[in-house]
Amino acid sequence: MTVRLNLFAPEFRANPYPFFAELRRQPTLAQVDPLGFWAVSRYADVLHVLKNPQLFSSTGHRGPAEPEWLGRSNPFADSMVMQDPPQHTRLRALVNRAFGPTALSRMEPRIRAYAEQAAAELTLGRPVDFVEAFALRVPASVIGELLGLDASLHPRFKRWADDINNTSSTPPDAHEWHAQIRGTYAEMEQYLKEVIAERRRSPREDMVSELLAARIEGEALTDAELLGFLFLLLVAGLETTIHLLGHSALVLAERPDVFARVRADRSLVPRFIEEVLRYEPVAQTLMRLTTAETELCGVRLPAGSHVMLLLGSACRDEAQFPNSERFDLDREGPSNMPFGHGIHFCLGAPLARMEARLALNALLDRCGGLVRDATPVQWHASIVVRGPTVLPLTVLPG
Ligand code: HEM
Repeated sequence: MTVRLNLFAPEFRANPYPFFAELRRQPTLAQVDPLGFWAVSRYADVLHVLKNPQLFSSTGHRGPAEPEWLGRSNPFADSMVMQDPPQHTRLRALVNRAFGPTALSRMEPRIRAYAEQAAAELTLGRPVDFVEAFALRVPASVIGELLGLDASLHPRFKRWADDINNTSSTPPDAHEWHAQIRGTYAEMEQYLKEVIAERRRSPREDMVSELLAARIEGEALTDAELLGFLFLLLVAGLETTIHLLGHSALVLAERPDVFARVRADRSLVPRFIEEVLRYEPVAQTLMRLTTAETELCGVRLPAGSHVMLLLGSACRDEAQFPNSERFDLDREGPSNMPFGHGIHFCLGAPLARMEARLALNALLDRCGGLVRDATPVQWHASIVVRGPTVLPLTVLPG
């Protein structure tokens, strides 16, 4: 018998982990409502799918990402995260260097400065929304810099990213919402096209200039591909890192013992980040489409089946992580699973880890504790990412 799980049930949204634990105990695949996708919950099975991109394609989202009301092609739907080889291989090779160690060390001093400024401007001693006051600031500055957009535009990024994320999940009759989303595409495209044209005229030492100059076997990125990549960075790189910082703050508030250890010994910060990534995986689900008939966990899936990988469950799989439901600062070794696996492994993983390390160190320099009050946390409504969108906290002076 097939087990079913309703992704939109309020009790699942509030805390998906007990539901995931139940799914992992089942011998077979679950189907998720209301979409009917096949859900993969165990670490080993998720890994199997990610290791076989020829059988589990990344182009499954294309339809919903380009609804008719959008009235245009969606640059994000054409970006590399939704491509299979050989297109994906070529795009990834072209952009790889922009996220390599040399590019990262060039960015590090500026990210540190953003982090220190955000920490210095935090209101201490009374409740703030930690997301607005701190978590958003470093990732927005970093993405703004990568996209080459002026700092005055940073406050708009969150809305832009939300609108693009919502393209595939707004109801068909939400006409006002559709108009807003269409406006966002046009606005972003206009700004980004200006950046691309300007860097073409006078290249600088920045990512857009480097990507314009990059060649693989004599071939460059087209303007449309570069635009798609910049859209992807905003969606993949902003909200995810904001949520990583939000989850980190929640753990620090709920576990004063962890706070005290990490604050006293900063060499524990990277280990802390790895455990937050595992314990609260920001990217909760990934989609794939089967290219041929195949069997998964005893279920025969015809070609064209939608498969939903529950990273949120894989990262809590006790077969892989003993005492998996516990946040354990002493857990050995990083797990890369929160960033995916294989050909689509997160391009920004080293950048996200660096941003989180610099932001948390700057926070710990100024803060003597994080205290939650009774005001509830508000969670992101998406089924793709999980993280607090409003996080009421008091930051105590250090
Ligand atoms: C891909 C997670 C931050 C850029 C991915 C994937 C995951 C992921 C799970 C795999 C998608 C798939 O297999 O379909 C995360 C998490 C982050 C984070 C948890 C932060 C906590 C970032 C940042 C950037 C970024 C900061 C860049 C600024 C990308 C790109 C891809 C990707 C470009 C597509 C790679 C490809 O298709 O080859 N990310 N990400 N991510 N991520 Fe991230």
